[in-house]
Amino acid sequence: MKRKTIAILFGGHSSEYEVSLQSAAAVIRHMDSEKYDTVLIGITKEGSWFRFRGTPEEIEKDIWHHKDCTPALISPDRSIHGLIEFCKSGIQTVYLDGAFPILHGKFGEDGTIQGLLALAGIPCIGCGLLSSALCMDKDTAHKLAAAAGIRVPASVVIDKMGDAVQLQAWTFHLHYPLFVKPMNAGSSFGITRITDAGQLADAVAHAFSYDTSVIVEEAIEGFEVGCAVLGKDQLITGAVDEIELSGGFFDFDEKYSLKTSKIHMPARIDEVTAKRIRETAKKLYRVLHCSGFARVDCFLTPKGEIVFNEINTIPGFTSHSRYPNMMKGIGMSFEELIDRLIEMEVLE
Ligand SMILES: Nc1ncnc2c1ncn2[C@@H]1O[C@H](COP(=O)(O)OP(=O)(O)O)[C@@H](O)[C@H]1O
Ligand SMILES: [Mg+2]
Repeated sequence: MKRKTIAILFGGHSSEYEVSLQSAAAVIRHMDSEKYDTVLIGITKEGSWFRFRGTPEEIEKDIWHHKDCTPALISPDRSIHGLIEFCKSGIQTVYLDGAFPILHGKFGEDGTIQGLLALAGIPCIGCGLLSSALCMDKDTAHKLAAAAGIRVPASVVIDKMGDAVQLQAWTFHLHYPLFVKPMNAGSSFGITRITDAGQLADAVAHAFSYDTSVIVEEAIEGFEVGCAVLGKDQLITGAVDEIELSGGFFDFDEKYSLKTSKIHMPARIDEVTAKRIRETAKKLYRVLHCSGFARVDCFLTPKGEIVFNEINTIPGFTSHSRYPNMMKGIGMSFEELIDRLIEMEVLE
Protein backbone atom coordinates (compact mmCIF):
# COMPACT_ATOMS: atom_id res chain seq x y z
CA MET A 1 0.00 0.00 0.00
CA LYS A 2 1.31 3.42 -0.96
CA ARG A 3 1.85 5.74 1.98
CA LYS A 4 -0.53 8.67 2.10
CA THR A 5 0.52 12.24 2.70
CA ILE A 6 -1.74 13.81 5.29
CA ALA A 7 -1.59 17.43 6.39
CA ILE A 8 -2.31 18.21 10.04
CA LEU A 9 -3.47 21.80 10.50
CA PHE A 10 -2.95 23.23 13.97
CA GLY A 11 -3.07 26.50 15.92
CA GLY A 12 -5.40 28.98 14.22
CA HIS A 13 -6.63 32.54 14.40
CA SER A 14 -9.01 31.71 17.23
CA SER A 15 -9.40 32.10 20.99
CA GLU A 16 -8.91 28.34 21.13
CA TYR A 17 -5.41 28.41 19.59
CA GLU A 18 -3.77 26.86 22.68
CA VAL A 19 -6.33 24.06 22.89
CA SER A 20 -5.62 23.16 19.28
CA LEU A 21 -1.89 22.81 19.98
CA GLN A 22 -2.58 20.16 22.63
CA SER A 23 -5.03 18.25 20.43
CA ALA A 24 -2.76 18.35 17.37
CA ALA A 25 0.31 17.15 19.29
CA ALA A 26 -1.64 14.12 20.53
CA VAL A 27 -2.98 13.26 17.07
CA ILE A 28 0.49 13.54 15.49
CA ARG A 29 1.95 11.21 18.15
CA HIS A 30 -0.73 8.59 17.48
CA MET A 31 -0.57 8.56 13.69
CA ASP A 32 0.73 5.37 12.12
CA SER A 33 4.06 6.38 10.57
CA GLU A 34 4.12 3.19 8.47
CA LYS A 35 0.98 4.33 6.68
CA TYR A 36 1.17 8.11 6.68
CA ASP A 37 3.65 10.84 5.87
CA THR A 38 2.64 13.85 7.90
CA VAL A 39 2.90 17.43 6.70
CA LEU A 40 2.46 19.84 9.60
CA ILE A 41 0.83 23.16 8.86
CA GLY A 42 0.84 25.65 11.71
CA ILE A 43 -1.35 28.74 11.75
CA THR A 44 -0.28 31.41 14.23
CA LYS A 45 -2.71 33.24 16.49
CA GLU A 46 -2.41 36.20 14.11
CA GLY A 47 -3.35 33.97 11.18
CA SER A 48 -0.01 33.43 9.40
CA TRP A 49 0.56 30.03 7.79
CA PHE A 50 3.75 27.96 7.96
CA ARG A 51 4.96 24.46 7.20
CA PHE A 52 6.58 23.18 10.39
CA ARG A 53 9.20 20.43 10.41
CA GLY A 54 9.68 20.05 14.18
CA THR A 55 8.22 17.86 16.89
CA PRO A 56 4.85 17.51 18.67
CA GLU A 57 6.59 18.69 21.89
CA GLU A 58 7.41 22.01 20.23
CA ILE A 59 3.79 22.37 19.14
CA GLU A 60 2.52 21.53 22.62
CA LYS A 61 4.83 24.08 24.24
CA ASP A 62 3.90 26.71 21.65
CA ILE A 63 7.50 27.23 20.54
CA TRP A 64 6.93 25.76 17.08
CA HIS A 65 6.86 29.09 15.22
CA HIS A 66 10.33 30.04 16.45
CA LYS A 67 12.05 27.50 14.23
CA ASP A 68 11.90 25.01 11.38
CA CYS A 69 9.16 27.01 9.66
CA THR A 70 8.66 28.08 6.06
CA PRO A 71 5.78 30.28 4.91
CA ALA A 72 3.28 28.00 3.22
CA LEU A 73 -0.39 27.89 2.26
CA ILE A 74 -2.98 25.55 0.87
CA SER A 75 -3.74 26.56 -2.66
CA PRO A 76 -7.35 26.63 -3.86
CA ASP A 77 -5.93 25.65 -7.27
CA ARG A 78 -7.07 22.06 -7.80
CA SER A 79 -4.14 21.22 -10.08
CA ILE A 80 -1.77 21.67 -7.13
CA HIS A 81 -3.94 19.59 -4.77
CA GLY A 82 -1.87 20.60 -1.82
CA LEU A 83 0.55 23.01 -0.29
CA ILE A 84 2.63 25.81 -1.75
CA GLU A 85 5.79 26.33 0.27
CA PHE A 86 7.89 29.47 -0.03
CA CYS A 87 11.36 28.02 0.62
CA LYS A 88 14.58 30.05 0.50
CA SER A 89 15.53 28.08 -2.62
CA GLY A 90 12.23 28.92 -4.33
CA ILE A 91 8.63 27.82 -4.49
CA GLN A 92 7.85 24.17 -3.86
CA THR A 93 4.52 22.34 -4.03
CA VAL A 94 3.54 19.34 -1.91
CA TYR A 95 0.74 17.00 -3.01
CA LEU A 96 -1.66 16.14 -0.19
CA ASP A 97 -3.88 13.03 -0.10
CA GLY A 98 -5.91 14.53 2.71
CA ALA A 99 -5.96 17.20 5.37
CA PHE A 100 -6.94 16.86 9.00
CA PRO A 101 -7.86 20.23 10.52
CA ILE A 102 -7.32 20.04 14.27
CA LEU A 103 -8.40 23.60 14.84
CA HIS A 104 -10.99 24.63 17.38
CA GLY A 105 -13.39 27.53 17.22
CA LYS A 106 -13.59 30.29 14.66
CA PHE A 107 -11.61 30.06 11.41
CA GLY A 108 -11.01 26.36 11.88
CA GLU A 109 -14.11 24.59 13.11
CA ASP A 110 -16.59 26.91 11.39
CA GLY A 111 -16.41 25.82 7.74
CA THR A 112 -13.83 28.31 6.52
CA ILE A 113 -10.92 25.84 6.33
CA GLN A 114 -13.30 23.11 5.19
CA GLY A 115 -14.40 25.38 2.31
CA LEU A 116 -10.81 26.03 1.30
CA LEU A 117 -10.10 22.29 1.24
CA ALA A 118 -13.22 21.70 -0.85
CA LEU A 119 -12.07 24.31 -3.37
CA ALA A 120 -8.62 22.70 -3.45
CA GLY A 121 -10.11 19.24 -4.02
CA ILE A 122 -8.30 17.89 -0.95
CA PRO A 123 -10.29 15.35 1.12
CA CYS A 124 -11.04 16.87 4.52
CA ILE A 125 -11.00 14.58 7.56
CA GLY A 126 -14.06 15.34 9.64
CA CYS A 127 -17.11 17.49 9.03
CA GLY A 128 -17.36 19.52 5.83
CA LEU A 129 -18.26 23.13 5.17
CA LEU A 130 -22.02 22.98 5.75
CA SER A 131 -22.08 21.00 8.99
CA SER A 132 -19.12 22.93 10.40
CA ALA A 133 -20.85 26.25 9.75
CA LEU A 134 -24.24 25.05 11.04
CA CYS A 135 -22.82 23.62 14.27
CA MET A 136 -20.69 26.68 14.96
CA ASP A 137 -23.71 28.95 15.00
CA LYS A 138 -25.49 28.03 18.24
CA ASP A 139 -28.82 29.56 17.19
CA THR A 140 -28.96 27.94 13.74
CA ALA A 141 -28.03 24.56 15.22
CA HIS A 142 -30.83 24.90 17.80
CA LYS A 143 -33.41 25.91 15.19
CA LEU A 144 -32.64 22.86 13.04
CA ALA A 145 -32.65 20.54 16.04
CA ALA A 146 -36.01 21.96 17.20
CA ALA A 147 -37.45 21.52 13.71
CA ALA A 148 -36.48 17.85 13.95
CA GLY A 149 -38.46 17.56 17.20
CA ILE A 150 -35.57 17.70 19.67
CA ARG A 151 -35.95 19.99 22.67
CA VAL A 152 -33.58 22.96 22.91
CA PRO A 153 -33.29 25.67 25.59
CA ALA A 154 -35.62 28.69 25.19
CA SER A 155 -33.42 31.53 23.93
CA VAL A 156 -33.14 34.90 22.28
CA VAL A 157 -30.48 36.29 19.95
CA ILE A 158 -29.03 39.77 20.53
CA ASP A 159 -27.30 41.34 17.55
CA LYS A 160 -26.27 44.64 19.07
CA MET A 161 -25.51 45.89 22.55
CA GLY A 162 -28.42 47.68 24.18
CA ASP A 163 -28.94 49.58 27.41
CA ALA A 164 -30.24 47.85 30.55
CA VAL A 165 -33.91 48.60 29.71
CA GLN A 166 -33.62 47.31 26.15
CA LEU A 167 -31.76 44.17 27.25
CA GLN A 168 -34.46 43.38 29.79
CA ALA A 169 -37.19 43.92 27.21
CA TRP A 170 -35.49 41.58 24.73
CA THR A 171 -35.13 38.84 27.37
CA PHE A 172 -38.30 39.39 29.44
CA HIS A 173 -39.88 36.08 28.37
CA LEU A 174 -36.92 34.01 29.61
CA HIS A 175 -36.77 32.53 33.12
CA TYR A 176 -33.65 32.99 35.22
CA PRO A 177 -31.02 31.64 35.65
CA LEU A 178 -29.79 32.40 32.14
CA PHE A 179 -26.69 31.58 30.14
CA VAL A 180 -25.28 34.45 28.08
CA LYS A 181 -22.96 33.23 25.33
CA PRO A 182 -21.13 34.49 22.27
CA MET A 183 -22.87 32.91 19.25
CA ASN A 184 -19.70 31.43 17.77
CA ALA A 185 -17.08 30.45 20.30
CA GLY A 186 -15.91 27.42 22.21
CA SER A 187 -14.13 26.27 25.37
CA SER A 188 -16.75 28.34 27.29
CA PHE A 189 -15.02 31.60 26.34
CA GLY A 190 -17.23 34.64 26.95
CA ILE A 191 -20.00 32.68 28.73
CA THR A 192 -21.65 33.86 31.96
CA ARG A 193 -24.39 32.29 34.04
CA ILE A 194 -26.59 34.96 35.58
CA THR A 195 -29.28 34.76 38.22
CA ASP A 196 -30.93 38.18 37.98
CA ALA A 197 -31.53 41.06 35.58
CA GLY A 198 -28.94 43.24 37.32
CA GLN A 199 -26.20 41.01 35.87
CA LEU A 200 -27.52 41.03 32.32
CA ALA A 201 -25.75 44.07 30.84
CA ASP A 202 -22.27 43.05 32.01
CA ALA A 203 -22.77 39.48 30.81
CA VAL A 204 -23.97 40.60 27.37
CA ALA A 205 -21.07 43.07 27.03
CA HIS A 206 -18.63 40.32 27.97
CA ALA A 207 -20.07 37.95 25.34
CA PHE A 208 -19.89 40.72 22.72
CA SER A 209 -16.15 41.01 23.38
CA TYR A 210 -15.88 37.56 21.73
CA ASP A 211 -18.37 37.86 18.90
CA THR A 212 -20.73 40.14 17.00
CA SER A 213 -23.79 38.18 18.04
CA VAL A 214 -24.91 36.87 21.44
CA ILE A 215 -27.38 34.18 22.49
CA VAL A 216 -29.17 34.24 25.85
CA GLU A 217 -30.59 30.89 26.95
CA GLU A 218 -32.59 29.56 29.85
CA ALA A 219 -30.49 27.30 32.06
CA ILE A 220 -31.44 23.66 31.74
CA GLU A 221 -31.77 21.70 34.94
CA GLY A 222 -29.99 18.39 35.20
CA PHE A 223 -26.54 17.42 33.99
CA GLU A 224 -24.55 17.34 30.76
CA VAL A 225 -24.03 14.19 28.75
CA GLY A 226 -21.93 13.74 25.64
CA CYS A 227 -21.89 11.19 22.86
CA ALA A 228 -19.11 10.57 20.36
CA VAL A 229 -20.38 9.81 16.84
CA LEU A 230 -18.22 8.47 14.01
CA GLY A 231 -19.03 7.71 10.38
CA LYS A 232 -20.82 8.81 7.24
CA ASP A 233 -23.71 6.56 6.23
CA GLN A 234 -23.18 3.89 8.87
CA LEU A 235 -22.75 5.55 12.23
CA ILE A 236 -20.93 4.27 15.28
CA THR A 237 -21.45 5.83 18.70
CA GLY A 238 -19.06 5.77 21.63
CA ALA A 239 -20.03 5.25 25.24
CA VAL A 240 -22.08 8.15 26.65
CA ASP A 241 -20.21 10.27 29.19
CA GLU A 242 -21.46 12.55 31.96
CA ILE A 243 -20.14 15.73 33.49
CA GLU A 244 -20.57 15.98 37.22
CA LEU A 245 -20.41 19.60 38.32
CA SER A 246 -20.19 20.81 41.87
CA GLY A 247 -21.77 24.22 41.43
CA GLY A 248 -21.21 26.71 38.61
CA PHE A 249 -20.94 25.43 35.04
CA PHE A 250 -18.41 23.77 32.78
CA ASP A 251 -16.28 26.87 32.23
CA PHE A 252 -12.81 27.12 30.68
CA ASP A 253 -10.96 26.43 33.95
CA GLU A 254 -13.06 23.42 34.79
CA LYS A 255 -12.81 22.00 31.27
CA TYR A 256 -9.02 21.94 31.39
CA SER A 257 -8.32 21.45 35.11
CA LEU A 258 -11.34 19.40 36.30
CA LYS A 259 -10.66 20.92 39.72
CA THR A 260 -14.17 20.53 41.11
CA SER A 261 -15.93 18.70 38.29
CA LYS A 262 -15.60 15.14 37.14
CA ILE A 263 -16.19 13.31 33.89
CA HIS A 264 -17.77 9.90 34.21
CA MET A 265 -17.27 7.60 31.27
CA PRO A 266 -19.54 5.73 30.99
CA ALA A 267 -22.23 7.99 32.40
CA ARG A 268 -23.91 6.81 35.60
CA ILE A 269 -27.24 6.22 33.86
CA ASP A 270 -29.28 3.15 32.95
CA GLU A 271 -28.79 1.45 29.60
CA VAL A 272 -32.22 2.47 28.27
CA THR A 273 -31.42 6.16 28.86
CA ALA A 274 -27.91 5.75 27.40
CA LYS A 275 -29.45 4.21 24.28
CA ARG A 276 -31.91 7.11 23.96
CA ILE A 277 -28.99 9.54 24.17
CA ARG A 278 -27.01 7.62 21.53
CA GLU A 279 -30.04 7.57 19.19
CA THR A 280 -30.66 11.31 19.74
CA ALA A 281 -26.96 12.01 19.10
CA LYS A 282 -27.13 10.13 15.78
CA LYS A 283 -30.28 11.98 14.80
CA LEU A 284 -28.70 15.37 15.58
CA TYR A 285 -25.53 14.37 13.71
CA ARG A 286 -27.65 13.65 10.62
CA VAL A 287 -29.90 16.69 11.00
CA LEU A 288 -26.83 18.93 11.08
CA HIS A 289 -25.20 17.12 8.12
CA CYS A 290 -22.16 15.92 10.05
CA SER A 291 -19.74 13.39 8.63
CA GLY A 292 -16.49 11.83 9.80
CA PHE A 293 -16.78 12.56 13.49
CA ALA A 294 -18.35 14.92 16.03
CA ARG A 295 -19.19 15.08 19.71
CA VAL A 296 -22.84 15.69 20.48
CA ASP A 297 -23.50 17.44 23.80
CA CYS A 298 -26.91 17.38 25.49
CA PHE A 299 -28.47 17.88 28.91
CA LEU A 300 -30.37 15.16 30.72
CA THR A 301 -33.09 16.66 32.91
CA PRO A 302 -34.31 15.21 36.22
CA LYS A 303 -37.41 14.01 34.32
CA GLY A 304 -35.21 12.12 31.87
CA GLU A 305 -35.72 14.50 28.98
CA ILE A 306 -32.84 15.03 26.53
CA VAL A 307 -32.19 18.67 25.63
CA PHE A 308 -29.73 19.55 22.87
CA ASN A 309 -26.81 21.84 23.73
CA GLU A 310 -24.33 21.76 20.86
CA ILE A 311 -22.30 19.67 18.43
CA ASN A 312 -18.54 20.09 18.46
CA THR A 313 -17.36 19.23 14.96
CA ILE A 314 -13.70 19.23 16.07
CA PRO A 315 -13.86 18.27 19.74
CA GLY A 316 -10.80 18.20 22.01
CA PHE A 317 -8.48 15.48 20.79
CA THR A 318 -5.81 14.86 23.42
CA SER A 319 -5.51 11.24 24.51
CA HIS A 320 -7.50 12.08 27.68
CA SER A 321 -10.17 14.19 25.89
CA ARG A 322 -13.80 13.20 25.98
CA TYR A 323 -14.24 12.07 22.36
CA PRO A 324 -11.29 9.63 22.31
CA ASN A 325 -12.31 8.40 25.76
CA MET A 326 -15.87 7.65 24.70
CA MET A 327 -14.44 5.65 21.80
CA LYS A 328 -12.10 3.87 24.20
CA GLY A 329 -15.30 3.03 26.07
CA ILE A 330 -16.36 0.82 23.13
CA GLY A 331 -12.89 -0.68 22.76
CA MET A 332 -11.40 1.61 20.10
CA SER A 333 -7.86 2.76 20.85
CA PHE A 334 -6.69 6.30 20.06
CA GLU A 335 -4.43 4.95 17.25
CA GLU A 336 -7.28 2.97 15.73
CA LEU A 337 -9.59 5.98 15.98
CA ILE A 338 -7.17 8.27 14.10
CA ASP A 339 -6.64 5.56 11.51
CA ARG A 340 -10.36 5.09 10.92
CA LEU A 341 -10.99 8.81 10.61
CA ILE A 342 -8.29 9.18 7.97
CA GLU A 343 -9.24 6.02 6.07
CA MET A 344 -12.87 7.11 5.89
CA GLU A 345 -11.86 10.07 3.68
CA VAL A 346 -8.62 8.96 2.11
CA LEU A 347 -9.32 5.66 0.46
CA GLU A 348 -6.97 3.54 -1.58
N1 LIG B 1 -28.72 26.41 28.57
C1 LIG B 1 -27.81 25.93 29.41
N2 LIG B 1 -28.20 25.32 30.58
C2 LIG B 1 -27.29 24.83 31.46
N3 LIG B 1 -25.96 24.92 31.29
C3 LIG B 1 -25.50 25.51 30.16
C4 LIG B 1 -26.40 26.04 29.16
N4 LIG B 1 -25.65 26.54 28.16
C5 LIG B 1 -24.37 26.36 28.51
N5 LIG B 1 -24.26 25.75 29.71
C6 LIG B 1 -22.99 25.44 30.41
O1 LIG B 1 -21.94 26.19 29.82
C7 LIG B 1 -20.97 25.31 29.20
C8 LIG B 1 -20.49 25.91 27.90
O2 LIG B 1 -21.57 26.16 27.02
P1 LIG B 1 -21.54 25.70 25.50
O3 LIG B 1 -22.78 26.18 24.85
O4 LIG B 1 -21.29 24.24 25.44
O5 LIG B 1 -20.33 26.54 24.93
P2 LIG B 1 -18.92 26.14 24.29
O6 LIG B 1 -19.15 26.10 22.83
O7 LIG B 1 -18.02 27.25 24.71
O8 LIG B 1 -18.52 24.80 24.85
C9 LIG B 1 -21.73 24.01 29.04
O9 LIG B 1 -20.83 22.93 28.99
C10 LIG B 1 -22.61 24.02 30.29
O10 LIG B 1 -21.86 23.66 31.45
MG1 LIG C 1 -19.62 23.09 24.90
